[in-house]
Amino acid sequence: MDIEAEIRALQLDSAEDNNATLIPEDAKPEEVEMTDKVEEEVKDKEVADMDCAEVPDEMESQKKRHLNVVFIGHVDAGKSTTGGQILFLSGQVDDRTIQKYEKEAKDKSRESWYMAYIMDTNEEERVKGKTVEVGRAQFETETTRFTILDAPGHKSYVPNMISGASQADIGVLVISARKGEFETGYERGGQTREHVQLAKTLGVSKLLVVVNKMDDHTVNWSKERYDEIESKIVPFLRSSGYNVKKDVQFLPISGLVGTNMKTRVDKNICPWWNGPCLFEALDSVEVPVRDPKGSYRMPIIDKFKDMGTVVMGKVESGSICEGDSLLVMPNKAPVKVLAVYCDEDKVRRAGPGENLRVRLSGIEEEDISSGFVLSSVVKPIPTVTEFTAQLQILELLENAIFTAGYKAVLHIHSVVEECEIVELLQQIDPKTKKPMKKKVLFVKNGAVVVCRIQVNSLICVEKFSDFPQLGRFTLRTEGKTIAVGKVTDLPSRSSA
Ligand code: GTP
Ligand code: MG
Repeated sequence: MDIEAEIRALQLDSAEDNNATLIPEDAKPEEVEMTDKVEEEVKDKEVADMDCAEVPDEMESQKKRHLNVVFIGHVDAGKSTTGGQILFLSGQVDDRTIQKYEKEAKDKSRESWYMAYIMDTNEEERVKGKTVEVGRAQFETETTRFTILDAPGHKSYVPNMISGASQADIGVLVISARKGEFETGYERGGQTREHVQLAKTLGVSKLLVVVNKMDDHTVNWSKERYDEIESKIVPFLRSSGYNVKKDVQFLPISGLVGTNMKTRVDKNICPWWNGPCLFEALDSVEVPVRDPKGSYRMPIIDKFKDMGTVVMGKVESGSICEGDSLLVMPNKAPVKVLAVYCDEDKVRRAGPGENLRVRLSGIEEEDISSGFVLSSVVKPIPTVTEFTAQLQILELLENAIFTAGYKAVLHIHSVVEECEIVELLQQIDPKTKKPMKKKVLFVKNGAVVVCRIQVNSLICVEKFSDFPQLGRFTLRTEGKTIAVGKVTDLPSRSSA
């Protein structure tokens, strides 16, 4: 059975198709400064989160749009090198620093890794030449302010990749064109496929596929190699649910040399490429429109103490203002927003899509865990210990059967929790997409099945049809992604 073809049957992107029109020119920047008058008003409000989005501001049209872009792909494909090169080309790293990194990389016998050192900042990453933590950086093009999330490619760090991808709007899939490397990354068990499937499940709606290492002597900017890679990957992307014409763009680059990145590749180097360079492609990526007036939802990915309690996360819906009253869910703790930081800047207001640090009063740092959600008071996020989901089984561990009692690790927005499948309800025929009549006791690889899933402690989830970002998830066992799914129903008592 062709597993990949069936991932499409799950139609994880159906909710987006219904409500997302993609017009970059019209995309409004979400973060704006407020006037003093408005600030006064906000201070007076008891529940400010619903009104916050309505604050007018002339500055809004002058600000650039903001996009979170996650770099994904197999280990050593060149994600950190490309990310580092972007920062270098956008003038954020000077020559002296590069020389310092060159020396450090040489001392560690990793000469060619110096560009990756811009993104890989800790010692373990530099010694091993592998990203572990998701690296973060900012840069700007003509139209857009980007936050780069540099995910690790190594299979041991897939949970970190999941956390990076769950914060992203678009993905850059980095593929190594070097002889043998594309093949290893793309075969079953390689992370190219796993990352693409996860990214799609986690809501990364657009992909730029960069065919990297085009300068390598085994490639030498060969059109045949580029075409071979593109033709092999396209059917897989399609079967993973991407509309290749609308959502995917391919381009050749050398992340190490910096070719076809900020400016188009010289015809002397690559006479056959007539398309855009990476910066141009990023500039013109169209993104889903986000609703700044929705109920506030910010899954918390991290927290620390700093003159109060500071939480970090990406706003999935709604807007936040200094002075807002919100709830930390699932423990329903009322909190007040003392300050909002976007990148390094303190802002008075921020909207959906922004990665923020929010200083709160009313809660201690130790009472918050990652996976909690900073949420609107008027319409708090539902909390459950059980939900119904439609699952697409990808690839179970050898000899495993998927049946009631199956245990896995659930990854949904920033939640990572042990879970158990308590009941299989229906198997879905992937061809007709209708439930099959026969009672289902177990399913195998490739099956689409509706089931009940239980966790031990309360978690915050939404129905996929209401909030796709907070209702799509993956199941993993022993370090392998075995299923992707969407929440289809919540118990009626779940709403907070
Ligand atoms: P992980 O973080 O471990 O997943 O790897 P990564 O994808 O971040 O790869 P990284 O940037 O660390 O690069 C891996 C190796 O590939 C290094 O030796 C780089 O110098 C080399 N490399 C990356 N990009 C290019 C390129 O465009 N051309 C050539 N020739 N080598 C490259
Ligand atoms: Mg890396």
